[in-house]
Amino acid sequence: MIGKLNHVAIAVPDLAAATAMYRDILGAKVSAPGDEPDHGVTVVFVELPNAKIELLHPLGDNSPIAPFLERNPSGGVHHVCYEVGDILAARDRLKAAGARVLGGGEPKTGAHGKPVLFLHPKDFCGTLIELEQA
Ligand code: CO
Repeated sequence: MIGKLNHVAIAVPDLAAATAMYRDILGAKVSAPGDEPDHGVTVVFVELPNAKIELLHPLGDNSPIAPFLERNPSGGVHHVCYEVGDILAARDRLKAAGARVLGGGEPKTGAHGKPVLFLHPKDFCGTLIELEQA
């Protein structure tokens, strides 16, 4: 069911420092930071030949990644995103299999303007999974 790896998201306490590290030390192509108020994050995209890295930094008072950064003050891998062809079909299949789909199971518009859903990390080896309709 899942297809390509779309991105790995890394929560960072200092977005400018993380961006400079990817650009200047790792030699990657990085985007300008973009605010995503609906998701409570500011994002920098790191473009790799086969996938993206998203550097996430909290935006606003109720950012969903703020508790993660409190537990991981130097940052860490926050989620991985896999592509699916039909997000509603994927959701229904996962629910039927007993997996927990976060946020009531209704897709939101993600960072790339496409529908996304998140799956409970306790059902997937301790990893928060994002599904994005390709
Ligand atoms: Co993501």
